[in-house]
Amino acid sequence: MTVSATFQKTPETKTDTVIVGIYKDNRLTPSAEALDKENGGLIQYSLKNQKKFMGKQGVTLSLALPQGGDYNRILLIGLGDPAKLDAGACETIGGKLYMALSSVGAVHATLLIDSDQARENCSAPAMAAHIVMGAKLRSYSFDRYKSKKDDEVEKFENIEVVTDEARQAHDLYETLDHVGEGMFLARDLVNDPPNELYPESFARIIKEELKPLGVDIEIFDDKKMEKLGFHAHLAVGMGSVRLPRVVIMRWNGADKKDSQPLAFVGKGVTFDTGGVNIKPTGGMEEMKLDMGGAAAVVGLMKSLALRKAAAHVVGIVGLAENMPSHMAYRPSDVLQSMSGKTVEVMNTDAEGRLVLADCLTYVQRTYTPRLVIDLATLTGAMMVALGTEYCGTFVNDNEMWEQMAVASKESGEKLWRMPLDEAFRKEMDSTIADIKTLGTSGRYAGACTAAGFLQRFIEGDTPWAHMDIAGTAWVKKDTAICPKPATGFGVRILDRFIANNYED
Ligand code: BES
Ligand code: MN
Ligand code: ZN
Repeated sequence: MTVSATFQKTPETKTDTVIVGIYKDNRLTPSAEALDKENGGLIQYSLKNQKKFMGKQGVTLSLALPQGGDYNRILLIGLGDPAKLDAGACETIGGKLYMALSSVGAVHATLLIDSDQARENCSAPAMAAHIVMGAKLRSYSFDRYKSKKDDEVEKFENIEVVTDEARQAHDLYETLDHVGEGMFLARDLVNDPPNELYPESFARIIKEELKPLGVDIEIFDDKKMEKLGFHAHLAVGMGSVRLPRVVIMRWNGADKKDSQPLAFVGKGVTFDTGGVNIKPTGGMEEMKLDMGGAAAVVGLMKSLALRKAAAHVVGIVGLAENMPSHMAYRPSDVLQSMSGKTVEVMNTDAEGRLVLADCLTYVQRTYTPRLVIDLATLTGAMMVALGTEYCGTFVNDNEMWEQMAVASKESGEKLWRMPLDEAFRKEMDSTIADIKTLGTSGRYAGACTAAGFLQRFIEGDTPWAHMDIAGTAWVKKDTAICPKPATGFGVRILDRFIANNYED
């Protein structure tokens, strides 16, 4: 169970913990002052007797109350500098609050949020909704394969937020919660091990999850893919007995039903051994994350359907398992991609771009979308360049980049713009075929040449963005709002991107 929340004007349910905020340098919020008076000056007294808390952002201090009262403890949560509080800061605070509540053994808590002019960028409803969102995101757990479920250990579950503007806080949180559910689906898919999640089972799960929400689902099996010309994509999956699949997801919540859709394409390599160019042992187990792009697209579709987005969106995921075997494709093979371009395989570990190439062609030719965004754990080079904090993003359209940058700022999912260049596209010319999968300059600019490869499959002047999420789909250490490893990166920013710019 993850955190559930209610929003009220006055406290209604029985609680074991009352939470109030303290600004930096121990400045009490109005609700903290009121609670201090009710409890004979306990808060002021406790703050005077220690130097660590000081109202620092996300730091907590638990004050036990004597028996016989209405609740067991007061939990002080540091809010830091009120002028610096924004949505992202509130989520970090919420995540830390969740951890503190769990560790003191709280089960039902009440959080008091006052309307305060001192917070310039953060109204009371926004603060309430984002603190709860942070708590929810941090409360995610993946215990499907544990004999003892996390729920059997008593965990923090219910939070009642008390604020004058309860209605607004509730409405704001409802939307965030829908996006959170999409993120959780993306996290579940990435965390699921590859013996359980392979192309066929992945396709089945997508249908089970999204069809009941009103998303149209179409699944292409390998035979259908062959007919449609997904030859580059099929080649990647030939080494495995688990054959490739393509899943198309359609959500049309737009008023104008015949509007051109927005298209989202996800790399769904359910396990990447490298194929015949097999990867070294160290870290290969992480390659179950190689369907993180597909997971984000599926999570996005779930968010859109849950919040009934007034937009026309098509999602497509290319699913395959990259294995070495006597059936596997080889370096130096020449493939006939759906676009008509022939592709020389330089290294079977550069498989994602082959899967994406056919999916990009298919979605452009079938739907003439307004724009296309692909997400892929495409290159180790992206991680070398930007690490795990920023998602390198290649965009062929400045206006679209501006929209993505705004969505990034609002959602907290960080993007960094990367270069597309004729030189990178040109580098992919092959001597034997139309195009080859690796650049001539070897490991130099590996993320950029991969983007250059993909760009050769973009038709006409279709606005297009490629998000290389190799570094951001996965964290090695827990963060304030995400227990390791899968993050669900991409769902939030793209949901915002659509909400800001493409809804009726
Ligand atoms: N899935 C990997 C990229 C990756 C690496 C994602 C680490 C997340 C973490 C991709 O298919 C791959 O193997 N890329 C190769 C490309 C190389 C053969 C040019 C790489 O990055 O080493
Ligand atoms: Mn690979
Ligand atoms: Zn891969």
